[in-house]
Amino acid sequence: MNKTLSAAAILLSSLSGMAVAETDSARIDMGKALFTQGAEPSCSICHTLADAETMGEIGPNLDTMRPDYDRVMRALVNGVGPMTPYDSLTDEELDALSHYVASATKADNVEP
Ligand code: HEC
Repeated sequence: MNKTLSAAAILLSSLSGMAVAETDSARIDMGKALFTQGAEPSCSICHTLADAETMGEIGPNLDTMRPDYDRVMRALVNGVGPMTPYDSLTDEELDALSHYVASATKADNVEP
């Protein structure tokens, strides 16, 4: 590969890396906003999550549980115990919340 071509390749790969980061942070921001206030009832009433600065004690402490994306999604869609399903959230909002909770708690799997 000549110099111009390899420089272009490096530029392109760093640009696409940035695009991914920006999309991901928008998804995280959306999930955090839903967690702290957007979802109704708010997750913060019942759950402790350090990243969101919430200290609810009715549900399990999410920092300790570190639920994977799929586990959060299942809880939101089906409900668990006293936690009712979040029927009114869009697919995009459910995705953002699941990704956010898994990422904020450093779960093993933060994607579907
Ligand atoms: C009214 C209180 C309440 C609210 C509001 C609530 N939860 Fe829960 N949540 C609970 C309780 C209680 C459990 C444990 C249920 C059980 O294990 O029987 C739980 C369980 C969970 C679990 C673990 C599921 C599992 O597989 O064990 C996750 C993840 C979760 N909640 C995320 C959320 C998120 C995200 C929100 C906001 C969109 C939310 N919760 C809102 C009470 C609540």
